[in-house]
Amino acid sequence: MSETGYQPLKGQRAIVSGGSSGIGSAVCKCLAAAGAKVVVNYNSSPGGAEEVAQEIESNGGEAMVIQADVGKEDDVQKMFSQTIEKWGSVDILVANSGLQRDASFDELTLAQWEKVMNVNLTGQFLCAREAVREFKRRGIVPELSVAAGKIICMSSVHDIIPWAGHVNYAASKGGVLLMMKSLAQEVAPLKIRVNGISPGAIKTPINREAWETPEAEEKLLELIPYQRVGEPEDIGKAAVWLSSDDSDYVHGITLYVDGGMTLYPEFADNG
Ligand code: BGC
Repeated sequence: MSETGYQPLKGQRAIVSGGSSGIGSAVCKCLAAAGAKVVVNYNSSPGGAEEVAQEIESNGGEAMVIQADVGKEDDVQKMFSQTIEKWGSVDILVANSGLQRDASFDELTLAQWEKVMNVNLTGQFLCAREAVREFKRRGIVPELSVAAGKIICMSSVHDIIPWAGHVNYAASKGGVLLMMKSLAQEVAPLKIRVNGISPGAIKTPINREAWETPEAEEKLLELIPYQRVGEPEDIGKAAVWLSSDDSDYVHGITLYVDGGMTLYPEFADNG
């Protein structure tokens, strides 16, 4: 149950890729609190995924842990078929898996480039394609939702903010942005809703160095007009809204959840 007891996702089945830690784990918990059954996907950390699933179940929700490398077609197809076999279908996909492999451009290896593209972009393509296939096959189930399915692509403020030293990451997220919008344009007539969430700086393991010490946090806050570093739940709540019929007329947009990071804060007293 959500804190308010409001369960807009009651009975819906969600797959969250990369649900074992960081933003993904908060998304799993928030969707479950809103009434969804949740597949907590992980690639390499079963412990984290199990913990998330246990927490969901101890709060009266339903969860299933599935291992899959989202960059591998077979793995993704198996994850969807296992879910459909157990729960009958899928209503929500949060394509969330993502990672960084940072290096200055001249030092960036092909392996680092490909790893980031494979997980962050190809992984979203493969998951979204399976979701679209299932939504199209099944169509609208009026008792559950007015849409035939919902896809949320987890992006980043770096889909529009260039990021030196992270060219592979920014390029992958820029790719996510236009993949999401093009897909949204294509599947709208099928009543499949596709949107993106672009988090700013959120306290997760991916950017621990940027907020761990008070000095680092102070420096990071220079980039955040709203003057706080985000929490994973900030993203989880946005994911609930974008998955629910409350946002039914919202399609093909990117919701920046970033405390104003995309407002060019350095211009506040300059320019
Ligand atoms: C990155 C973080 C970074 C944040 C804001 C995210 O997409 O993964 O490392 O702190 O963007 O710059």
